[in-house]
Amino acid sequence: MKNLTDLLSNIDSDLAAVISSITDTGIAINQLLQQGALAGILGAAGNENVQGEEQKKLDVIANDMLIDALKNVPSCAGMASEEMDTILPANASGKYLVTFDPLDGSSNIDINMAVGTIFSILPRTASGEPKEPEFLQKGSEQVAAGYILYGPSTMLALTTGSGTHLFTLNPKDSSYVVTTENVQISPSTKEFAINMSNQRHWEAPMQDYINECLAGETGVRGKNFNMRWVAAMVGDVHRILCRGGLFTYPLDKKDPKKPAKLRLMYEGNPMSMLIEQAGGQSTTARERMLDIQPEALHQRVPVVLGSSEEVARIAQLHAEFDTSVGA
Ligand code: F6P
Repeated sequence: MKNLTDLLSNIDSDLAAVISSITDTGIAINQLLQQGALAGILGAAGNENVQGEEQKKLDVIANDMLIDALKNVPSCAGMASEEMDTILPANASGKYLVTFDPLDGSSNIDINMAVGTIFSILPRTASGEPKEPEFLQKGSEQVAAGYILYGPSTMLALTTGSGTHLFTLNPKDSSYVVTTENVQISPSTKEFAINMSNQRHWEAPMQDYINECLAGETGVRGKNFNMRWVAAMVGDVHRILCRGGLFTYPLDKKDPKKPAKLRLMYEGNPMSMLIEQAGGQSTTARERMLDIQPEALHQRVPVVLGSSEEVARIAQLHAEFDTSVGA
């Protein structure tokens, strides 16, 4: 396999059409990002999204671009976006449903740092115009998942269920060239990613885990850890696909109305499929992410993903804690 076209020619052509539409739109979003302030797309749009967060101009623009592209793909039955309150039906006879976060890490836009588009593709379970309950499928049902990372170079991470592959966009001919086939995440790592400013709000077992890492070679783990935090999940997950590591956005008590930050349908599930297909693990600290039965489109979940030894250690600490408090 040399490029994305090779991969797409070996899967269901209807699924390939949905994926191409997203990856082509990624090229157009990338072109806007490259122009930055010159394209007049930075700053706030003056709205809040359904999560109560300020929308950036480019969040809105990227969302509209994906909608416009996907509604013209006959095999796309409907879509749901982190930026929209409800689902958007597309073509009733389509075979696939798409969920996406059009621009993850949007607080990075105005400072010229990495951001990305995350997507998940689900099969249809009914016919006719899709309704919201049909989108509420477990992550294990996904037929494809991926992200486009807009960094110093633009990269695509994609899985259609047989491995996770990384592609680099060749700006000369707008093709996605395979740069790592069948990513393999090392089971062990010395790197973790977490927003440390929330430390006092975490549950006890997460505090214990990070304290173990911080104790380094003088502690029970017997090795020194390094910390990295891109502040865009897409960047942190990309680092893990490239060189292993642990990423977590755990439960916290900062805002009782929002015990978890990341969204299952737009972030948790697609990233978990990519990570598992690359040999890593992804959980909530208590259960496998891809086994969660979604209850709502915008449901939030704690996320623990990456190198399997660290994900397992966090699960062990949580299980011991739950036993000790009789949970
Ligand atoms: O909602 C998404 C997101 O931007 C993630 O991409 C990122 O991991 C997280 O929020 C960063 O949040 P903060 O740095 O505010 O804790």
